[in-house]
Amino acid sequence: MRKKIVVGNWKMNKAVAEAGELASAILGQLGHGFVDCEVGIAPAFPSLTEVGKVIEGSDIRLVAQNCHYEDDGAYTGEVSVRMLESLGCTYIIAGHSERRQYFGETNRTVNLKVRKALAEGMQVIMCIGETLEERESGITANIVTTQVREGLESVSDLGGVVIAYEPVWAIGTGKTATPEQAEEVHASIRETVRSMYGEAVAEELRIQYGGSVKPSNAAELFAMPNIDGGLIGGASLKADDFVAIVRAAG
Ligand code: PGA
Repeated sequence: MRKKIVVGNWKMNKAVAEAGELASAILGQLGHGFVDCEVGIAPAFPSLTEVGKVIEGSDIRLVAQNCHYEDDGAYTGEVSVRMLESLGCTYIIAGHSERRQYFGETNRTVNLKVRKALAEGMQVIMCIGETLEERESGITANIVTTQVREGLESVSDLGGVVIAYEPVWAIGTGKTATPEQAEEVHASIRETVRSMYGEAVAEELRIQYGGSVKPSNAAELFAMPNIDGGLIGGASLKADDFVAIVRAAG
């Protein structure tokens, strides 16, 4: 049985003090003893220390929204995996569609980040998903399969990997994939992973759904057999909503 995983991606929201308050509110509502679902929060880099302090000693994971794939060097504005680790992060999000769309990330750079994070002992949430145009052209399966294959190239052990399926047309738009639409793609992702790594690994891999998940639709999405939790954007900025979504998974 796969343990569901729900992660709040705060994106470029909340200055340090506000981030600390939000983390505190989430922790206050969730308590320390939840066990049925793995929970993480991904504040912007400047708030990692503050949020890390708030959630210290709890079961909430500290998650980074991005990383660079080199160890160190002349990469102004970038942050290495080791730096993130030193702040207490245990997961890194790689290849979010906003990174692909606005910051030129490709399957190749996503693959380098996934490999670097795993090599440093971090866990990775690798994001994939098709645009509206791709969906309407009927090439969703091809796009997603290529993202999985190229993103995981030369990755031999999937133990530290979670895949997040996030149809780009559903992110921040209020349009959610129906549970059936999402399930169809999730099943195809698992099939691709099965063909690459075999049955046992495919069965263990957790595949999150992301794209306008809210308290009102979370339970029906999480009830699908191949949906193992969610990557939550907008709704993770409100403690009540995020906690309701976690409860829908647990
Ligand atoms: P959303 O974002 O929940 O605001 O649609 C999801 C994401 O980008 O991870």
